[in-house]
Amino acid sequence: MRILVIGASGRVGEELVSDLSQAGYHVSGTYNVKKPQHQLEHAIQLNLADSTVPQIAEKIHGYDIVYFVAGSRGKDLLQTDLYGSVKVMKALETSTHVDRYVQLSASFSLHPELWQTEELKPLRNFYIAKYFSDCWLLDNTTLNYTILQPGMLLSTKGTGKIELNPKHRAGIPIADVALTLAKLAEHPNTAKKIITVHSGEEPIDGALAKV
Ligand SMILES: NC(=O)c1ccc[n+]([C@@H]2O[C@H](COP(=O)([O-])OP(=O)(O)OC[C@H]3O[C@@H](n4cnc5c(N)ncnc54)[C@H](OP(=O)(O)O)[C@@H]3O)[C@@H](O)[C@H]2O)c1
Repeated sequence: MRILVIGASGRVGEELVSDLSQAGYHVSGTYNVKKPQHQLEHAIQLNLADSTVPQIAEKIHGYDIVYFVAGSRGKDLLQTDLYGSVKVMKALETSTHVDRYVQLSASFSLHPELWQTEELKPLRNFYIAKYFSDCWLLDNTTLNYTILQPGMLLSTKGTGKIELNPKHRAGIPIADVALTLAKLAEHPNTAKKIITVHSGEEPIDGALAKV
């Protein structure tokens, strides 16, 4: 099975590449400016903001599973987080065969009524980008998607334990987000699902098996 991680040089991307490689997959990955530290089959330079759909398609064809974990950390939400992800989806649909597309989103991105809190006010533009990207995936593609929506990313040590689809927003270590993403590949029952994930008490495999 050939896997591509778009955003392989990021905090989530690096851990995801490591987890997928340890699980025995052949993993390639894209970066924009910072070359990924982990060993990849192919390290592909890709600037989502500057590339057209055909240019992206040429670089990302031939993979069984594609993960999208790229993002601009608020610096270029329209061109990278939103339109960059839409261009990736269009590229996958027009010119490549892909079994699964896994998109990293954010918890409650599809529930704007929950963005009204003081805590989320500064993140509203980020949430809007995620909202329209997730909506595009759901409404305008036939991709076999999984949307994983984590709470706030924490740099603390991973616990290997999560809670799925919780009622309130909470944090989750980056290592647990990455391991949950990696394990989606082993749980085909998670296809065509939108899954919110926070830190919790349940081992990742057990939680995903019940989705
Ligand atoms: N922060 C949070 O609390 C939070 C919560 C929920 C979800 N998320 C989501 O999780 C994602 C991953 O987070 P992270 O901490 O791993 O991010 P990160 O460390 O900033 O990594 C972002 C990745 O995106 C790539 N990238 C940035 N701009 C690009 C462009 N124009 N074209 C192509 N690639 C580009 C980066 O490549 P280079 O390294 O080469 O620049 C890097 O690989 C975020 O983007 C966000 O969507 C974050």
